[in-house]
Amino acid sequence: MPSTLRFVLCGSVDDGKSTVIGRILCDCHQVPTDQMRRVEADSRRYGTQGDAADLALLVDGLQDEREQGITIDVAYRTFETPRRRFIVADAPGHEQYTRNMATGASTADLAVVLVDARKGILPQTGRYTRIARMFGVRHVVLLVNKMDLVGWDGDAFGEIASAYRTVAGEIGVDEVTAIPASALTGDNLTRPSEKMPWYTGPTLLSHLETVEVATPESDQGFRMPVQYVNRPNPDFRGYCGRVAAGTVAPGERVRIMPSGVETRVESIVVWQGTRESATQGDSVALTLEPEVDVSRGDVVVHADDPVEVADQFQARILWMGDAPLLVGRPYLFKLHATEIGATVTRIRHKVDVSDGGVLAAEKLELNDLGVVNLATNRAVPFAPFEECRELGAFVFLDRVTNATVGAGTITFPLMRAANLKWQDFDVTGEVRAELKQQRARCLWLTGLSASGKSTVANLLERRLVGEGRHTYLLDGDNVRHGLNRDLGFTDADRVENIRRIAEVARLMVDAGLIVIVSFISPFQSERDFARSLFKPGEFMEIFVDASLEACARRDPKGLYAKAMGGEIRNFTGVDSLYERPERPDLRLDTEKLSPEGCVELVMRSLTG
Ligand code: ADX
Repeated sequence: MPSTLRFVLCGSVDDGKSTVIGRILCDCHQVPTDQMRRVEADSRRYGTQGDAADLALLVDGLQDEREQGITIDVAYRTFETPRRRFIVADAPGHEQYTRNMATGASTADLAVVLVDARKGILPQTGRYTRIARMFGVRHVVLLVNKMDLVGWDGDAFGEIASAYRTVAGEIGVDEVTAIPASALTGDNLTRPSEKMPWYTGPTLLSHLETVEVATPESDQGFRMPVQYVNRPNPDFRGYCGRVAAGTVAPGERVRIMPSGVETRVESIVVWQGTRESATQGDSVALTLEPEVDVSRGDVVVHADDPVEVADQFQARILWMGDAPLLVGRPYLFKLHATEIGATVTRIRHKVDVSDGGVLAAEKLELNDLGVVNLATNRAVPFAPFEECRELGAFVFLDRVTNATVGAGTITFPLMRAANLKWQDFDVTGEVRAELKQQRARCLWLTGLSASGKSTVANLLERRLVGEGRHTYLLDGDNVRHGLNRDLGFTDADRVENIRRIAEVARLMVDAGLIVIVSFISPFQSERDFARSLFKPGEFMEIFVDASLEACARRDPKGLYAKAMGGEIRNFTGVDSLYERPERPDLRLDTEKLSPEGCVELVMRSLTG
């Protein structure tokens, strides 16, 4: 069977991209219209041919996004010559270029970067190369098109090729093959050019047919992330996944990461039967002897060559969300078959995608590329992306909408947290609460400014104390005088404000207290994050609800008047977002209920 080469074609319509594709398909006697499929259709089609796992995890992640209705415009075309089968990703060069390029590059072995001989290297040439490299492409063909329009001039070509080699070298692409061509006339695309006798290298097609694209994964130890556990009957338990690196055979000793437990491969099962070995790219089910505990997201590795496990990383991330990436905001993180919570703890810098320049940044906007530190909620098995694409590529999903908002690659683990262990002490939260003869809780009041949070919080605390309870009240205005005095009202600062308060509330609940939290807390993600810190039943999201009009009418601090007059910026409800709780544990309508009535409702739901 001929091998398959996946490549991504980068360039704009003006560079002659469609002519290049059209010419190759035509000369290879392929019918382009039949082959044109969008990525979803393609993967579904391949799926029915048992080749479903052929799309890298990254693309799976991006596909989720497609299901959410955000389009990624990547057309995949396939064609074949007697020597090789090809899958071309064609990422259009409009303003969503980064998203599309990332998607196309994430599964490609090689990139063909197209330039117009008359224009030479442009900023977008660097941009295409940088994104392709970031997502794992190591081999680049620089196709200098429209040589007919520069009189087939060898010097012009030489200059462009050498300028590009400098750019590519800086980006870290070591293998560049430069080819002078004319897609219009077909010179050096599929047949050698008589017009350019000074060029003695291969045509584009013959290069694509013969180029060796060895990946670093092929010389590594065996690694397979477990996608799912197949238990069709009590006698069979198969761990299914696609081999991310190396080779394995029955009888070999393997280790399950992160637990580190050792066992042996008993058999390698595929649809048609069993096999003597499995190698990188194969989708298989392994049976193990002896049986050990394995779950989705674990990685099976050679016993003597395990992968690392960490919960803090330095990573590169390409932001694809319409809302910016904010430090401290919790996101869902998908790395191979693992899906857990993660936050960016620090944006180290932003990278200018065109020239590689380093810029300071507090957030990443749509299409920004950044180098960040990130922390996952628990330690995960992984490999640096440069060693293994599948164990080092991840996506970020929005926790509320589930849309893919970022795609990235792990550079290396940060070891700091690995050396910190959670200390268990003898006096626990339960003991502390019991001594106070109460159930410790966090009562989280959210709502617009002037919705009535402070009034309800104050009365509620009085009532609880009156009943002999031990309480504490954390209030936005007050905490912002001390612990959070460094924070303002940008989205990023509000995220950090709530993150800190959630952590403080958790400590206070652990101290055995009933904690009343009264903050606008405008975003659902952070309220969900707060909830995630507590045990079931410990946290109550209480929506203190009053319409914006009512709050603006009450305006006890005169802030709405100022905000509407343009004196205060980023004011919640005026020019800053408030996301109404979707499923609060309790909703208090302060336009209908008196403060006493609200407290009554809270007290009832506490005992109920
Ligand atoms: S939050 O959005 O980060 O949760 P927080 O509850 O801490 O806000 O602080 C809100 C209080 O700060 C309001 O009650 C109000 O008194 C004051 N404030 C000052 N400027 C703003 C603003 N731009 N938006 C909202 N509240 C503001």
